[in-house]
Amino acid sequence: MHKPEDRIETKLIHAGEPDPKIGGAVSLPIFQSSTFLYAGQQSYDELKYIRMNNTPNHTALHRKLAAVESAEAALVTASGMGAISTTLLTLLGPGDHLLAQPGLYGGTYEFIAKDLAGLNIGWDVLEDDPTQWPAQVKPTTRLVYCESITNPLIRVADLEAMAAFARDHGLVSVIDNTFATPINFRPAEHGFDLSVHSGTKYLNGHSDIVAGAVIGRADSVAAVNHKLVHLGATLDPHACFLLHRGLKTLALRMRCHNQSALAIAQFLETHPALARVNYPGLPSNPGHRFAAELFDGFGGMVSFEIDGGVDTAERFMGALRIPLVAPSLGGVETLITRPAVTSHAGMDPEERRGMGISDRLIRLSVGIEAVEDVMADIDQALNKI
Ligand SMILES: Cc1ncc(COP(=O)(O)O)c(C=O)c1O
Repeated sequence: MHKPEDRIETKLIHAGEPDPKIGGAVSLPIFQSSTFLYAGQQSYDELKYIRMNNTPNHTALHRKLAAVESAEAALVTASGMGAISTTLLTLLGPGDHLLAQPGLYGGTYEFIAKDLAGLNIGWDVLEDDPTQWPAQVKPTTRLVYCESITNPLIRVADLEAMAAFARDHGLVSVIDNTFATPINFRPAEHGFDLSVHSGTKYLNGHSDIVAGAVIGRADSVAAVNHKLVHLGATLDPHACFLLHRGLKTLALRMRCHNQSALAIAQFLETHPALARVNYPGLPSNPGHRFAAELFDGFGGMVSFEIDGGVDTAERFMGALRIPLVAPSLGGVETLITRPAVTSHAGMDPEERRGMGISDRLIRLSVGIEAVEDVMADIDQALNKI
């Protein structure tokens, strides 16, 4: 049994687990059953069905995720985009308006700029300067959306100011906490109403499922759940089981990701072949002061530009032995990618470059291999080009 005052490492193992253990099983078994016996005189909400997100596998995950992010409630979804799209479709309707931080994950950006715009939901990019924010609020503005660490420029904004701004103007604050994870940042502790996650990444950590989560205020999570049941973006119990298993080692993995990424970013920053390195753990980074104040670690994501063009970037990536050239992030293996052709490929190229995402930008998701091996490999690939 866990207590609310337990540390996050203990909560990851014990919070949300069924008590008593089902059938005495130490590890929660997979309830691969779409439907469950009717218990008589049940309300609609008590009926158990996979799409209603209420099998024992869902319930345990919901309780665990809420506990580790110090939040009231949580909900798992079929993907990160399932979490983001369902949350925004729940909280916004035709005629509404939202303010979104610049430089969001490409899928989120496109959902806001194209899909929501198609439903007559307007939006504006939040200015960099917080003193400009109040003037951006319209009578129809309902929501502020940001990322704890942006993808792929790895920026950290004044997140506390953003949550306070939303609260002061009666707006719902939603933050994508995929890159920071609850180990490094717990949005509810800093005034955010909801966090969304791609559970595909660090929460699961093994690059073997696609999943998502919505965590935060109980009333908002219940509303998102209601919409999710109708949209059907439900996580399958087998994927729930894998996410549950992955979560248990999140603290250990994040500690390693934090340490290794910091070491690699420091190494890259001093390398003569590098034009630019983005990592919030570097004092030279514009978001460093916010990250140092709010986060318990700077995360496992680094992005950089090498002197030269796209060809140089491609030759560097091709010369690597350990990092695998593949989209996605947050797994135990180091992955490397060029966002212009992966995570942000769907965007208009001019718009993408305008956001500061150059075609030569490289994004590295630092894994949990021996950091000396990864660094030596990066060094030999840089020397080759
Ligand atoms: C920050 C961020 N949020 C959300 C998503 C979408 O997650 P999923 O692919 O699980 O739908 C991604 C995917 O890369 C991401 O990087």
